Amino acid sequence: MDYKKLIARCVRVGGLDADALYDDIVYGQSADAGDYALPLFKYAKRLGKSPADLAKAAADSFVADEFIERCAPVGGYVNFYLKRAAAASDVLKTVAARGQNFAPAKRVNKTICIDYSSINIAKPFHIGHLLTTVIGGSLYRIAAFLGYDVIGINHLGDWGTQFGKLVCAYKKWGNDADIERRGIRSLLELYVRFHAEAENDKSLEDEGRRWFKRIEDGDADALKIFSKFKEVTLRDVDKVYNTLGVRFDSYNGESFYNDKLDAVTRSLKAKGLLTESDGAEVVDLSEFGMPPCLIRKSDGASLYATRDLAAAVYRKKTYNFDKCLYVVAYQQNLHFKQVFKVLELMGYPWAGDCEHVPFGMVSLENSGALSTRKGNVVFLEDVLETSVQKTRGIIESKNPALPDKESVAKAVGVGAVIFFALSTSRIKDTVFSYDKALNFDGETAPYIQYTHARCCSILEKCVGGNDAGADFNGLCDDAGFGVVKLLARFDETVAAAWEKYEPSILARYLIDLCQVFNKFYIDHKVAGNPERVLLTRCVRDVIKNGLSLLLIEAPNKM
Ligand code: ARG
Repeated sequence: MDYKKLIARCVRVGGLDADALYDDIVYGQSADAGDYALPLFKYAKRLGKSPADLAKAAADSFVADEFIERCAPVGGYVNFYLKRAAAASDVLKTVAARGQNFAPAKRVNKTICIDYSSINIAKPFHIGHLLTTVIGGSLYRIAAFLGYDVIGINHLGDWGTQFGKLVCAYKKWGNDADIERRGIRSLLELYVRFHAEAENDKSLEDEGRRWFKRIEDGDADALKIFSKFKEVTLRDVDKVYNTLGVRFDSYNGESFYNDKLDAVTRSLKAKGLLTESDGAEVVDLSEFGMPPCLIRKSDGASLYATRDLAAAVYRKKTYNFDKCLYVVAYQQNLHFKQVFKVLELMGYPWAGDCEHVPFGMVSLENSGALSTRKGNVVFLEDVLETSVQKTRGIIESKNPALPDKESVAKAVGVGAVIFFALSTSRIKDTVFSYDKALNFDGETAPYIQYTHARCCSILEKCVGGNDAGADFNGLCDDAGFGVVKLLARFDETVAAAWEKYEPSILARYLIDLCQVFNKFYIDHKVAGNPERVLLTRCVRDVIKNGLSLLLIEAPNKM
């Protein structure tokens, strides 16, 4: 179905080989402008000719092909036209042959580590974690679909002085029954109370530090409390992970590397990379225009970066990754630049396979300033529940007789939030709004899900869905063929989303597909037309599989 390949071979441009042209071929912007176009400006410059002359010469060399009908030079472009019936038959049969659940590609024998979500113990799992969790979760599915072996890693934030404070607060005011019942919310209250009381009682900070020292020294009592916090946190977040459909193969967090830090420091020292700065040990990065990377504080404590260095080395040794991605907010751009640079200076040839996948901030409409210390946070769990609740209301008013209402409300309410997070390019800051995310006529998950359900209901009333009796000439008008062309692009869209670590590319594609299909559907009766039934089936299956790569479910009825 990759017609770009065929196009690259059916014309000659200078003495260039077909593969060179492939990357330059673009999609035609309108039906008149051809299905594909090859811009020749770049080559004209190189060959010392005018783009228009080169386009004419290329068009003159055209040899038709099974799927490419003709071409026309227009200015500095050559526009190409597909043989519509042949292409429609090819595309629809190929899509239909994949069945309802598209099988992943053949294994490529490459391993990708994805560090994502990576929450902090005893801290709320809030709206700020939405992006890392769903971008990472979606990239996980996309990579697996493309045949990679994927390792999802939740690099838990489970080390640091704040845990001493929390144990201290627990010892003073903790209530096991409440923690059991209210989980992270109860722990958050302890944390907030600690900071409030520490304002007036300076000794609390010292007490907190002493507790952390006890955790570090492996004191049984302190460790037991701390593991309890971890367990409670993971239990709470697992609920959200289940709701979002994300999974992890490892929960090795910061504390996991405690016994692997000395090796890092030793190796840095041996390579002459450590310098002293006010009693602390750092790697000087001034030569690279960056502040020093802190390895060890003057009191001997390790740092976030030290743990990331140890983690990278461990991951390479354990998984032998071909790529290690870190799906973390752009606020940590510098941190990752420093860590990757230090790995490179340490002489690891794989340092360049580590890549930060940054994303912007999400805030919530009308929620005011958020602060964990003050306890002013929006739990992701609550956002999801509110969205589901609102969806229940919409179903009650639009379609109260819908079977299986509760599971539809969940799929749509949760899907709306996920799609919101995945549909803008990841680096942008965004403001979440329930009304926008749940707008059935907007560029939203409910709109896509609704189109999917529409396809299901059309197909329920039709026989067929295979190519028996199909006359593909019936799909040669612009509306029908517009749908066919988009269907043909599914795989390359998924590949492009992976290439750029950008699920929004797939999100955009699904919206486009739904829009062209809905336009087609307005004035084309499907029942009784085998080729249209087949088209509808392919649209249904591409939507369902595409949504699934975005962690979103597609109910059959809405
Ligand atoms: N726990 C960190 C935070 O919430 C994110 C960790 C990201 N992963 C990493 N390997 N540093 O900011």
